[in-house]
Amino acid sequence: MKRVAILISGGGSNMVKLVESMTGDHPARPCLVLANSEDAGGLKKAGEMGVATAWVDHKHFKGDREAFEKQLISVVDAQKPDIICLAGFMRILTPFFINHYEGRMLNIHPSLLPKYRGLHTHKRALEAGDTEAGCTVHEATAELDDGPILGQAQVPIEPGDTPETLAARVLKKEHQLYPAVLRRFAEGNRKRIEL
Ligand code: GAR
Repeated sequence: MKRVAILISGGGSNMVKLVESMTGDHPARPCLVLANSEDAGGLKKAGEMGVATAWVDHKHFKGDREAFEKQLISVVDAQKPDIICLAGFMRILTPFFINHYEGRMLNIHPSLLPKYRGLHTHKRALEAGDTEAGCTVHEATAELDDGPILGQAQVPIEPGDTPETLAARVLKKEHQLYPAVLRRFAEGNRKRIEL
């Protein structure tokens, strides 16, 4: 059975879907949900689902990213995870952290990569006049929002969409895509999924 650590910063709706998916004949189980703030709403949800939780507050490390990441690594590695899922973890991670988990760390990003790395993806897709948007799960590599793509899902952009309405439509797809990719990845299958 593979062990999965999930890193979050906020409400953790993707984390909830990942945890819920890891039952029955699924080849993995959650071993930790870790946030960069005690206030991350997802921590309570994870606790209620019976998953171990922890937080490392980035504010205590005042610009010393390496010290922050060393602490993250020590808390994560204490649970001996095989796979790390970034699920709305909104701190930039340096190569020091990413290389430590090379080949076993996934990220979900709310755009059709390689379009719109970084923030404000939905606003940027609308401003560009795109007719479709979506989300991507990829292997995390040292470049921001880059790395081999493991799955993508498209949604149409509707007339009158705002960044908020589009984000909500994309998030529903994220909730399908991330569990589907995690399951295949845990089975050792890196073939790309299109939803
Ligand atoms: C999700 O939309 C995820 O794709 C995005 O943050 C949201 C987290 O929501 N991630 C990024 O923007 C990473 N750059 P959640 O906490 O409800 O899962």
